[in-house]
Amino acid sequence: MVRNPIQISFPLFLSLAILFPLIFSVIWYQLDSFDVAPLPMHELTRYPIIAPLLNGQMLHGADKIAVGKMVGPEDFLYDSGSGLLYTGCLDGWIKRVTVNDSADDSVVEDWVNTGGRPLGLVKGLHGEIVVADAVKGLLKVSEDGVIELLTDSAEGQQFKITDGVDVAEDGIIYFTDASYKYSLHEFGLDILEGRPYGRLLSYNPSTRQTKVLVRDLYFANGVAVSPDQKFVVFCETPMRRCKKYNIEDEITSTFVDSLPGFPDNIRYDGEGHFWIGLGSEFTNLWHYVQTYPLLRKVAGIITKYRGLPPILKSGGAILVDLQGKAIEHYYDPSLVFITGAIKLRDHLYAGSIVYPYIIRLNVTRFPATSSA
Ligand SMILES: *[C@@H]1O[C@H](CO)[C@@H](O)[C@H](O)[C@H]1NC(C)=O
Repeated sequence: MVRNPIQISFPLFLSLAILFPLIFSVIWYQLDSFDVAPLPMHELTRYPIIAPLLNGQMLHGADKIAVGKMVGPEDFLYDSGSGLLYTGCLDGWIKRVTVNDSADDSVVEDWVNTGGRPLGLVKGLHGEIVVADAVKGLLKVSEDGVIELLTDSAEGQQFKITDGVDVAEDGIIYFTDASYKYSLHEFGLDILEGRPYGRLLSYNPSTRQTKVLVRDLYFANGVAVSPDQKFVVFCETPMRRCKKYNIEDEITSTFVDSLPGFPDNIRYDGEGHFWIGLGSEFTNLWHYVQTYPLLRKVAGIITKYRGLPPILKSGGAILVDLQGKAIEHYYDPSLVFITGAIKLRDHLYAGSIVYPYIIRLNVTRFPATSSA
C-alpha cells in the first residue's frame, strides 16, 4: 500500500515546526549570560496587606499638571517658603513648579540640569538641595544653582543607581544606592536577577565621610528619616517592604512588609504618616515570576532585547503611619511606574518615571473610602 506523501509529511512538518524553535530557544536560553538567583521567598508573602481606606480609581477627577513641560517627574520636594515644588526629570533637569490650587496655571521653570538623572530630592539645612542622581551620585545644589558632587562610591564600590535621599536634623544625609551592578536603564534586570546589590548609606558633610549602614539590599529605593530622628525608613522594591534602620543602635528591623505593590520613594507628610509610591500592584503573575528563577531568566532575556515585558499595572501611593500600618491606598488600573506622592493641602501629587506630567488629585473631594 502506497501512503500519500502529504499525510506523512504533515506530522513531520508539524514536529519540525515545533522542534526547531524549541531547540533554538533552549540553546539561546543556555547561552544567554543573564544569571538569575532564587529570591528568599520565605521573606515574601503571597497575600498583600489591604489598607482600610481605598480609592482604586485615582485618575477619576485627577488633573495633569505641567503637561508636556517635563518627562518623568520622579520625586518631589516642596519648599513651603517659596511655594515651589521641585522635581527631577528624565532629561537631567530639576524643574520647579509654582503650585496653585487651581487647575491649569502651574508655571514650570527649568532650574538646574545635573547632566544625569535626578531621582531623590531633599532640602538641606542651609538652603541647598541634596540630590540622589542615578547617574552622577549624591549631589549638592546650592541655592544659586551650583552643583557639587558629595560622593559616588563607598568601600571601593561605585554607585550605579543613587536613588533615595533624606537629611536628618543633625545634617547627616541618608541615601540609597539601588544597585552597584546595574545602571538605571537596566533596573529591570537588577530586579529580575534576584541578587541584593543595594545599600543604605550615610554621608557626613562635616567629615565628608561616606558610610555603608546596611548592605545586601534588594533594589534599595526611597529613604525617609522619622520625625523624632530616631530611625530611617528605606524601601526594598522587589521585596515589597520597607525596613527601619535605628540610628542609635544601628539595628535594622521590619517597618512594613507585604505591601500591595512595589515601593519606590517614601516621604514624611509632616502629620504622622509616610507616603510610599507604588510602581505597580503585586499580581499572581509577579508571584510566579518571583518564585521561579527560570521565568525571571526568560523575562530578563526579553527585557534585554525588547524592554521590560508589560507586567506592571495599578500603580499608586499608600499612606502608612509611624508604625508602618497602612491607612489609605490610592491607585488606578492604568497607572504604572508611580514613584512617589506628597500631599499639599487638598491635593495629592503623584510622580512617575514615565509620564510627561504630574498627576494631581483633590483627595478631599475624591477620598479613599472604607473597603469593608
Ligand atoms: C477640593 O474639593 C473640596 C470638596 O469638593 C473643595 O471644597 C475644595 O475647594 C477643593 N480644593 C481645591 C484646592 O480645589
